Amino acid sequence: MQELAIHGGKKTRTRPFPNKKDVGIEELKEVAEVIWSGQLNRVGGTKVSNFEKEFAKLYGVEYAVASTSGTASIHVALGALNLDPGSEVITGPISDMGSIIPILYQGLIPIFADVDPKTYALDPEDVERKISEKTKAIMAIHLFGLADKLDELRKIAKEYNLYLIEDTSQAHLAEYKDKLAGTIGDIGCFSLQQSKQMTTGDGGMTIFKDKELYERGSLFADKAWPRSGNLADRGYLFLAMNYRMTELQGAVGLAQVKKIRNIVERRRKVGEKLVKMIKEEVEGVIPPHVPSYCKHSFWLFPITLDEEKIKIAPEVFNEALNAEGIPSSFGYIKKPLYLYPVLKEKITFGRSHYPFDLPEARKLEYKEGDCPNAEKLLKKVITIPVNEFYEDEDIEDIIKALKKVSNYYIKNKLNNLS
Ligand SMILES: Cc1ncc(COP(=O)(O)O)c(C=O)c1O
Repeated sequence: MQELAIHGGKKTRTRPFPNKKDVGIEELKEVAEVIWSGQLNRVGGTKVSNFEKEFAKLYGVEYAVASTSGTASIHVALGALNLDPGSEVITGPISDMGSIIPILYQGLIPIFADVDPKTYALDPEDVERKISEKTKAIMAIHLFGLADKLDELRKIAKEYNLYLIEDTSQAHLAEYKDKLAGTIGDIGCFSLQQSKQMTTGDGGMTIFKDKELYERGSLFADKAWPRSGNLADRGYLFLAMNYRMTELQGAVGLAQVKKIRNIVERRRKVGEKLVKMIKEEVEGVIPPHVPSYCKHSFWLFPITLDEEKIKIAPEVFNEALNAEGIPSSFGYIKKPLYLYPVLKEKITFGRSHYPFDLPEARKLEYKEGDCPNAEKLLKKVITIPVNEFYEDEDIEDIIKALKKVSNYYIKNKLNNLS
């Protein structure tokens, strides 16, 4: 048996994996036009508004509002809903904190429902259990690039008269039953941060089907300053943010929106090939479960270990993979969001615990055990980066390393010893 690199053996892979973005001359041309025009702000420019139009067209919806980040795109969605403080939003506990920050800034209370252990989608049964008289919205998080359980979530939303938001930050052009993720609920939110399938460096986009919600969302991203009518009056119609995307980002976005189908197709090919090869060739490693009615867009490639076959701790397995030259990570976030200080200790605004201490808010504590599937998952998931520039050789090296490490630990039946 080959000696593992972590024990001084030969590394499977010595070259770094491609970690590029599909950004080049097309983006440069668009950005150059902005620079030459001298119009860098979206008000008076054309790039951001055209980017919004093209993004909406790509998703087959009427309306899109660009903003400065994925976090902002969720804040725009919630600002558009204009919910009363103390209202509750049910969401998932595995995400970037950017999913939750806007909930708190809007004076709303995040309630965490567990995830499905197979696809990591929000578990509809747990969502239904966690509905209270304060619940006003559900926000599904399409983790790692897969969107699932949306029919069930829509049904619940309809039955209880709740809005359904999709945090599609990680799942650009993922599909669920032939529909694009982000278009199934009332509002879809996207991050355009560097690591996402398409990027403007940082940036966000919120898509709407409903005109009134769109109009309010659009105002919310621009200090509630209507840009038509009497501009001198400035409007300032309600409390809102300045989340305006710049023309420079809009220019990059316009070029990126033309490439995104191709980028996702390439990532999907890589991801699907990895799934197939792991199933056929790698014992003891479980690839992401992609239901037949879903198309994954592979922001990351999550794997878990078959605990019957591989007795080693997943952290150690991950370290062995890293030593082989695979830039995988253990655990994604290290604990569910509700165990981070902002939620568990309610560290928010000054000495207050706003919005948790609002008289209208239900009193609640976040604690270990709230979402057992999510807690278990974070103790076992290993994520492997995916990039649209991976070649067959890159995929084969990942498989070789997975095989080498899993065979070693299966044969050695080590019990949490490296
Ligand atoms: C699921 C999810 N939601 C929200 C965000 C926040 O996006 P941003 O970092 O662009 O603010 C991210 C970012 O990683 C994310 O993955």
